[in-house]
Amino acid sequence: MHVVPVPAHIVPVPGVTWVLPPDAVIRSESADVGAYLAEALRLPLADDRSEAAIALVRSDDVDGDEGYALEVDADVIVVRARTDAGLFYGVQTLLQLLPPSAPFTVAGVRIADAPRFAYRGAMLDVARHFFGVEVVLRFIDELSRYKLNVLHLHLTDDQGWRIAVDKRPELARIGGATQVGGGTGGFFTADEYSRIVAYAAARHVTIVPEIDMPGHTNAALVSYPELNVDGAAPPAYTGVDVGFSTFAVHRETTYEFIGDVVEAVAALTPGPYLHIGGDEAQSTSTEDYLTFMRRVQPIVAATGKTVVGWHQIGAAPRIAGRIVQYWGRGPELDDETRAALSQGDRFVLSPADKVYLDMKYTADTPIGHDWAGYITTRTCYDWDPGTLLPAGADVLGVEAPLWTEFVTTTADIDLLVFPRLAAVAEVAWSPPVARDWDAFRGRLAAHGPRWTMRGVAFHPDPEIPWA
Ligand code: ACM
Repeated sequence: MHVVPVPAHIVPVPGVTWVLPPDAVIRSESADVGAYLAEALRLPLADDRSEAAIALVRSDDVDGDEGYALEVDADVIVVRARTDAGLFYGVQTLLQLLPPSAPFTVAGVRIADAPRFAYRGAMLDVARHFFGVEVVLRFIDELSRYKLNVLHLHLTDDQGWRIAVDKRPELARIGGATQVGGGTGGFFTADEYSRIVAYAAARHVTIVPEIDMPGHTNAALVSYPELNVDGAAPPAYTGVDVGFSTFAVHRETTYEFIGDVVEAVAALTPGPYLHIGGDEAQSTSTEDYLTFMRRVQPIVAATGKTVVGWHQIGAAPRIAGRIVQYWGRGPELDDETRAALSQGDRFVLSPADKVYLDMKYTADTPIGHDWAGYITTRTCYDWDPGTLLPAGADVLGVEAPLWTEFVTTTADIDLLVFPRLAAVAEVAWSPPVARDWDAFRGRLAAHGPRWTMRGVAFHPDPEIPWA
């Protein structure tokens, strides 16, 4: 059984094999998940349970909002869950149990499964290099196969602004027209962003939009010079430095601007979160940073969204429900993370030396950074989100970011994301007692041919005994 992430409980039933019958139909008590499975297997949906070779059944007996049970018998495969999300995850497990090509058989098994963490994410930086809708949808497809349920889109940075805002048209027109290395960039229209959101929702993935501020804002400053401290537009920036830009913190027009942007992004985003960045604001004084965050957090909260920020935001007074995204490197915690801990913030963990997918695997990796070290698949796997922060920390989950200073093509994304994201997915989903590196290596090996069939140019990390 090559399921990744490994289910919480999985017991083979010896001597039993399900074989796909020639006239197989699927019966589903969820129209959406049934349609997803029918399309994946190219099988028809039917109403009559007695005929079904695969049945997706709603059941209150299954624990958890995202939990599911899966039973493979000789004549039928039954997935049970309380929610559509649970059925969707059961379906992902089933798709992994099925062989990638005919004959379609599945060995008998009983699975009872539910995630360890509620927040299981990846991040794509579409600001440094722009990636269009189709690339993002493909990314959502892949991450949802591994039961990840959050895609954080880093939509704005010094090098580009990637989401159109009706009230502030120059953001897309000017700020969207650049990227690292001098390319033409791009941006999502409201319709395109909504298409991403809907596609993600159909795969039980929540989009978390990030508008990074007060630093990482050169593209906004070029578009609306009044946001700049001296009121003049800086040159567009297409390099890879950080820490040189800041919004004017003491001008009311800055907060009017942020209100317009946050309102527009929140209106397009059904998910509960809005990420305001807050990292590497090295051109904003500490006092100004605190002033800024005191103003901006309530602006976000007024839209009904939960504030998310990189852990530097921990220095600022907490707004209720806030989530702090930790991207540090141990063993010592920085002051801002300590401040967040003492304020009782919730955490999403993105330790840079474990899950930063823009780091090279080894010195030989053709693209990527190395400031947080080399990160092999095993590095992504061999850590415990339960012990990274001091006992008592409120950890909501795990997210693996892909920054794209050096990432320009889909093949570049594939190389850096796979197989490492599968390791992160198991860290986020599976209970510690079910996790084991040697067993994981063996299971992961079976995913290589599937990625190849789907055109995913994964990195053949030599730690994995690829099939
Ligand atoms: C970050 O890597 N600057 C959050």
